[in-house]
Amino acid sequence: MEALPKQSIVAVIGSGAMGAGIAQVAASAGHQVLLFDTRPDAADKAIAGIKATYAKLVDKGRMGAAEADLAGERLTRIGSLQEASQAALVVEAIVENLDAKRALFTELEGIVVEDCILATNTSSISVTAIAAPLRHPERLVGMHFFNPVPLMALVEVISGIATDKTVADVTYATAQAWGKNPVHAKSTPGFIVNRVARPYYAESLRLLLEQAGDPATIDAILRDCGGFRMGPFELMDLIGHDVNFSVTNSVYDAYFGDPRFTPSILQQELVNAGFLGRKTGRGFYRYGEGVEKPAV
Ligand code: NAI
Repeated sequence: MEALPKQSIVAVIGSGAMGAGIAQVAASAGHQVLLFDTRPDAADKAIAGIKATYAKLVDKGRMGAAEADLAGERLTRIGSLQEASQAALVVEAIVENLDAKRALFTELEGIVVEDCILATNTSSISVTAIAAPLRHPERLVGMHFFNPVPLMALVEVISGIATDKTVADVTYATAQAWGKNPVHAKSTPGFIVNRVARPYYAESLRLLLEQAGDPATIDAILRDCGGFRMGPFELMDLIGHDVNFSVTNSVYDAYFGDPRFTPSILQQELVNAGFLGRKTGRGFYRYGEGVEKPAV
């Protein structure tokens, strides 16, 4: 199956951590990329951040200056969804909430061209459920990137019950053309990675609540001795506790309250406090001005 041609327009809806990363990768691959966000300055900030990243890559000799300029010029903020009408692929990276995602795709269905692929970057919500209210649920697919998107090769291409096989195959080929290593997965709770990651976080949170060790100690053991790329607490801080708590809740609910997936009170409290991790400067650790030390 062929990937979407480079001249196809890609729209990214939601310009937070994931949307910015997806936009960067799509622009680097040669697409015109439109970024939309309901927060007024989010898309502009994302574009500025991507251009700063390109400039760093040029400084390090990992990207040509002309290539960086061209990729930067391919990024455009749009002020309304209507401006995404000519997109061949829309990737949604908004808040992890079923009703919000359904509302967005229902609106997009009335705007985009007939063969536009609608992709959701959801971490855990059923792709089947997101697609259910659409007139054409067969064109909705999961395109689940990992954080940070430019560095993480894996993309889960998730088919819901109604997803057309060609749509999944084109999405898979497009992820490959963007330099990623995609895998096909079915719309099962948490898909593959977020499902097996739940016990990694849950047991670590239990260890912390039982005062077996502090976050830095548990992180160091799992990272430096256990062979994981990141310890559980630094990884949760990177993901964002709002996102990670939503994922835990959604897997728990999807398995009808299976105690294996019970969310942690500590996650709930971090969200209550607004200590969402790196993006707010505080989670299990504190961030900013070179500080990185345990906060809870
Ligand atoms: P974020 O909070 O950094 O960004 C979300 C953005 O969406 C915000 O800028 C917000 O203003 C915007 N937004 C919210 N509702 C909107 C709407 N209706 N229309 C347009 N924009 C809207 O969140 P993040 O981390 O980028 O996550 C986005 C999605 O990606 C979620 O579904 C999350 O589960 C998923 N995801 C997150 C990962 C992570 O490690 N943070 C990893 C993989 C997937």
